[in-house]
Amino acid sequence: MKVIWNSQIVEREEVSIDPEDRGYQFGDGIYEVVRAYNGVFFCLDEHIDRLYSSAQKIEMAIPQTKEEMKSLMNQLLKESGVETGNLYLQVTRGIASPRNHVYPDLSVLPTITGNMTIVPRDAEKIASGITAVTEPDIRWLKCDIKSISLLGNIMAKHEAHKRNADEAILHRDGIVTECSASNAAIVKDGVIYTHPDGNLILPGVTKIVWLKCAEALGIEVREEPFTLNQLAEADEVFCSSTTIEVMPIHTINGEKVNNGKSGEITRQLADAFKQKIEEHCGTV
Ligand code: PDD
Repeated sequence: MKVIWNSQIVEREEVSIDPEDRGYQFGDGIYEVVRAYNGVFFCLDEHIDRLYSSAQKIEMAIPQTKEEMKSLMNQLLKESGVETGNLYLQVTRGIASPRNHVYPDLSVLPTITGNMTIVPRDAEKIASGITAVTEPDIRWLKCDIKSISLLGNIMAKHEAHKRNADEAILHRDGIVTECSASNAAIVKDGVIYTHPDGNLILPGVTKIVWLKCAEALGIEVREEPFTLNQLAEADEVFCSSTTIEVMPIHTINGEKVNNGKSGEITRQLADAFKQKIEEHCGTV
């Protein structure tokens, strides 16, 4: 399998990670997950913009221009032969010795890795939805950076897994922020509520697209915080990410939402989102 290794495409076996790579040692790095359908990336520009924005927020200089990075990713997509799947791209602050918390100077180049995995689109799940539990948001206060340090996220997801749920809906003192690996939204009386962008959530690329879909469909969206009580009383609940698209949540903490069925507005958004994919990548 071909992978991205710094500025090249190489065989996976050729990649070696240094024990003093700052990503490996400190979790000092950022990443993106980009989805491809029919051999075409969806929302590549938006993902690239967020990658470079994350890099800038941690004062990391990516040597490649955005255009060079895009062409590397497209080259990998082509050479991997993957049609529908996910690209995981990671950029760490590179190798610096001896171990020192202080950032090394900019002559230390980032380590870039990227690999494609085949992941078919799960249309059945997008129609039927997933289960969730609520968990405290124990993460740091810069969740807008797509950091590879994901312990807070994976601990929440693991708690969900232990409670037989697919996703963890996170809250800070009763205010819902997002999910462990997706953005969260509720629908009440025909209006969608979702936490505003800022330091408490990741600004989702999928969210950018469904916000546009909602506008086109004439559905009102309020980007304002909502509480656990509002979550419990919502008509519909959904989450969104690159890998799961617009995904209904039909059960929260064992209680059914909308009688356990995907709601009408969520369905409309999921359909409109699929149309956006098809306009760019062909039939899915
Ligand atoms: N996760 N919030 C969090 C905490 C996320 O990890 C993600 C995505 C999102 C949604 O972002 P987007 O719509 O740009 O995918 C929101 C990716 C898919 C992951 O870590 O696998």
